[in-house]
Amino acid sequence: MARTDDEAQASRYFERVISERQVVICVGSGGVGKTTSSAVIGLNAALSGRRVLVMTIDPARRLANSLGIEALGSEMQQIPLERFEELGLEPKGELWAMMLDMKDSFDRLVQRHAPDPKTRDAILDNRFYHYFSTSLAGTQEYAASERLHELVQSGEFDLIVLDTPPTTHALDFLEAPERLVDAVSSRALQWLYKPGVLSGRSGMGIVSLGTNYVMRTLGKFTGGELLSELGVFLKTFSSLFEGFEERARGVIDLLKSSRTGFVVVTAPDSLTVEEALYFYEKLDRDALHVDAFIVNRVHPRWVSEEALALPPEALAAALSEPPLPALDPALNPTDLAEHLLENASQFELRATQDASSIALMGDRLPKTMPILKVPYFNRDIHSLAGLNKARTALFGYF
Ligand SMILES: Nc1ncnc2c1ncn2[C@@H]1O[C@H](COP(=O)(O)OP(=O)(O)OP(=O)(O)O)[C@@H](O)[C@H]1O
Ligand SMILES: [Mg+2]
Repeated sequence: MARTDDEAQASRYFERVISERQVVICVGSGGVGKTTSSAVIGLNAALSGRRVLVMTIDPARRLANSLGIEALGSEMQQIPLERFEELGLEPKGELWAMMLDMKDSFDRLVQRHAPDPKTRDAILDNRFYHYFSTSLAGTQEYAASERLHELVQSGEFDLIVLDTPPTTHALDFLEAPERLVDAVSSRALQWLYKPGVLSGRSGMGIVSLGTNYVMRTLGKFTGGELLSELGVFLKTFSSLFEGFEERARGVIDLLKSSRTGFVVVTAPDSLTVEEALYFYEKLDRDALHVDAFIVNRVHPRWVSEEALALPPEALAAALSEPPLPALDPALNPTDLAEHLLENASQFELRATQDASSIALMGDRLPKTMPILKVPYFNRDIHSLAGLNKARTALFGYF
């Protein structure tokens, strides 16, 4: 895809902004290329000398494949130097990757903040804890964002690139700290103590699935068992509550500070662009820093108007003189040429549509917002070589 001066300038500007961030978060609708973009941004920063961690919460575990490592677990792994050497790349920094397992993150939180091992085990074994850590909306996202905070504070990495989950509610992840502050505030305890909760009559409060669900989940136990388990849960878990609010504020501060930048990833079609603009408005309203838009899978314009205007007979003659060995001799060359021209003009149409929806998107964004394009490659990106190709397109290195 030919790059204009504007595009090259946008890439440089984006690269400079990223070089000043400690955290970059890729957001966007499902399937647009968030995981790929996170890896590409991480790769570029590692090549330029930073120690980078790419954190994904992608359940499809695609990141591991594209980075050329066997599997990705909740422990971070460095991408071996040989992988880069195979491609003739010499990273000046380091590239690490890990998968953020939500349940695991929440357990770690308990392990870290429980006052003693006895309390820790009592919480981890408690059925109410299991309910809270797996079913309460926002708790797992919260645990994930706290893990991010922990890693940033550890100073182990110069840059952490965070991938977000494939949901239409990707922004939940960002709202999780605030939601959890709410959830663990005294209202939560009030809700649990509320008359009628244990008999299943109250259905409001912070438990978004409703009391009936809680009661159904826990209802296999007798009232006595339930009460004593709840008692243990409240006594032990509340010992963690105190620090929660303060740490959640820490996460919110990190996300809002100039240490963190957001990248909105989108496909070029007008519907997805609308969703991307919605993400942008929301981030902007919350005073979060949006560093760039990445438009992924853009149809490149590669057929000239002269070629499209060719009479099928002329193309047929070119195809059969000398005959292409791969072509079936039974095929009528003119029919084939007609199909090829039709195909090329459809492709050209897609390229035109993409260009116009990207232009309309640009009109609705601040003039200074970098809009970066990655072409539609003819195959999935599932190797470091593929990521490097996307990097070349995104950052304009040829
Ligand atoms: N420019 C591209 N050209 C061709 N294939 C691409 C391109 N970008 C991404 N892909 C492929 O599209 C698929 C989806 O990309 P990716 O996993 O990055 O999207 P995602 O936004 O993270 O998806 P999800 O919302 O499911 O997490 C992957 O198989 C990836 O290899
Ligand atoms: Mg993903």
